[in-house]
Amino acid sequence: MSGNKKRLLSGLQPSGELTIGNYCGGINQFLQYQEQYDSFLFVPDMHAITVPQNDPIKVKERIRRFANLYLACGLNPDRCTFFIQSEVPAHNQLAWILECHTYMGELSRMTQFKDKSSKYNNIGCGLFTYPVLMAADIILYDANVVPVGADQKQHVELARDIVKRMNGKYGSSCPGGQLFVEPTPLIAKVGARIKDLQDPLKKMSKSAENPMGSIYLLDDDATIKKKINRAVTDNDGKIWFDEEAKPGISNLITLYAALSKTPIEDVINRFNGMERYGDLKKEVIDVVQSVLQPVRDEYYRLEKSDYVDKVLDRGRDRAKEIASKKYELISSIVGFGR
Ligand code: TYM
Repeated sequence: MSGNKKRLLSGLQPSGELTIGNYCGGINQFLQYQEQYDSFLFVPDMHAITVPQNDPIKVKERIRRFANLYLACGLNPDRCTFFIQSEVPAHNQLAWILECHTYMGELSRMTQFKDKSSKYNNIGCGLFTYPVLMAADIILYDANVVPVGADQKQHVELARDIVKRMNGKYGSSCPGGQLFVEPTPLIAKVGARIKDLQDPLKKMSKSAENPMGSIYLLDDDATIKKKINRAVTDNDGKIWFDEEAKPGISNLITLYAALSKTPIEDVINRFNGMERYGDLKKEVIDVVQSVLQPVRDEYYRLEKSDYVDKVLDRGRDRAKEIASKKYELISSIVGFGR
């Protein structure tokens, strides 16, 4: 499975239902690279409780739904190590050590913390320190690359800063002077920041209040059609690409390009100057439906079996072996124990 390949790792947190934004920025990116690297994909369930979750049963159901959805989207379980974060205790253990090597100022600068914390009255410490847990997720497996959407770039860069700091402080005790590997974010050229269909100035989000703004991976064809037909555009009446002047139309063009795997310039040329928004919307509906229909079919097939458990058991065992070795090394290097 591994050989001399470099390592790739990514995850999508089960804090809400997966959207077409997560597909374009996260899953699609992962699928594109999964065979090229020694790939790790996991369900970061411990991240999900950084925002309030009122029903633990729903959290559990969602973790399973995410796992089946990854498979339905095309994750290759024979090539990837696929697991659930909370089943590998080293994530938590390493996060503590990294927290003690991360500055409050660094975490205060995280834009996602600023956005999310403005929505709640009582903010848990976990929301503040969550990028450190994410750094532990990446660092434990010596991941070289991390495919994510644009909103996660800052977190991967923080992980990289922590790695440099830890290598500077403890690297001399390790072979090659390097304790950890510096990770690089892999960001899609197109589709790294899909916008909300009802408010195209905001990113499409799993936790959006208005479900009309997000297309969920399990939405049926009629719902997809309704949501795209009602997507907010503008009164200009001409189709051209300008994310500032025409955010709604540009978002639809981006969605089309990302899902049809067509270079954005070709898509822009194709639609440029056309006058009927309905025609553009129809094409976007077609492409979204054609991507999601097989995912849905496969998901409902997998849901009836226990296949995912077999894959996750195997993934957990491999992840645990690698992660616990790494944790033991770092724990002895920082001086823990007898
Ligand atoms: P999460 O769960 O918020 O998002 C999962 C992936 O989807 C991308 N994404 C988007 N891409 C394009 N347009 C959008 N509107 C959009 N919204 C989200 C995200 O950038 C991400 O790639 N902290 C991470 C999960 C995580 C992780 C990790 C990722 C935990 N540990 C280690 C990589 C490596 C998160 O909350 O992503």
